[in-house]
Amino acid sequence: MIHVGGVPDWVPAGQLLGPAFRREEGGWMAELPRSAEADVAARLRGISLGGGPLAVTVDPPLPRALVRAARERDARARRDTTPGFSRSGVRLDDEGRWSLTPEELALALGKEAGGQPVIDATAGCGGNAIGFARAGCAVTAIDRDPVRLALARHNAALYGVSIRFLVGDAATLIPTMPPALVFVDPPWGRDWSKAGSGLEQLPLLPALLPLCRAGWWAKVPPSFDPAELLGCTPIAWFGTAAGDVHRVKFLVLKCDAAAAL
Ligand SMILES: C[S@@+](CC[C@H](N)C(=O)[O-])C[C@H]1O[C@@H](n2cnc3c(N)ncnc32)[C@H](O)[C@@H]1O
Repeated sequence: MIHVGGVPDWVPAGQLLGPAFRREEGGWMAELPRSAEADVAARLRGISLGGGPLAVTVDPPLPRALVRAARERDARARRDTTPGFSRSGVRLDDEGRWSLTPEELALALGKEAGGQPVIDATAGCGGNAIGFARAGCAVTAIDRDPVRLALARHNAALYGVSIRFLVGDAATLIPTMPPALVFVDPPWGRDWSKAGSGLEQLPLLPALLPLCRAGWWAKVPPSFDPAELLGCTPIAWFGTAAGDVHRVKFLVLKCDAAAAL
């Protein structure tokens, strides 16, 4: 029997854990074949969601050999992740490569904006800006890094979308622009601690969100605690490839008005 505690209510447990799990006091449980229990335990190992670690217990404990084999299977499966840009000829720098929102997820998120004007405050190489533009939004894409923004411009042309690009600090530029939905994907890649959950790890958010008069969406690490930002709605985004279809890739927090920090 496997028990999993610490799954936030707003995370779809069926997708995270699998259909065999049922809710019980303090979490979720399932009775699975032993190797399947080992696979779930390996997949959830070390994961924090929404401000705290998942607590996984298997009773009776799994034999070491099963645990080892499951970890090896998990490491192999993790190589199959949701693709970034699919078009050939896209350009990415190192930071752009690991921080890019996968194309399919960016487009799905773009469709949720329903065609409203969007300011992508931290456009990087353009993953989200292009997703919003392909979904029919008028997009202004800001980044303080001119080299990365030039890559985004090139990538937008490849996708045949028109985007207004502005180089600069989003906190300085946004107050000078007409109110629009602001999308913020703060840098949280390499240096982000998987156990970290607070605003201190994402210092751009407290600076930017109070400036977003027409509302904001923020893409944050799965471990981020949404309670740190009052009045926002968290949504867990899963991968689409076999290796990460059960994995929360990021959270999107949505808020109708300037943040109450
Ligand atoms: C996580 S990346 C964005 C990735 C992008 N969403 C994508 O899918 O390609 C974060 C970007 O924020 C930019 N950035 C950091 N601080 C900024 C600021 N104050 N104003 C504008 N851009 C900023 C960085 O240069 C970096 O390119």
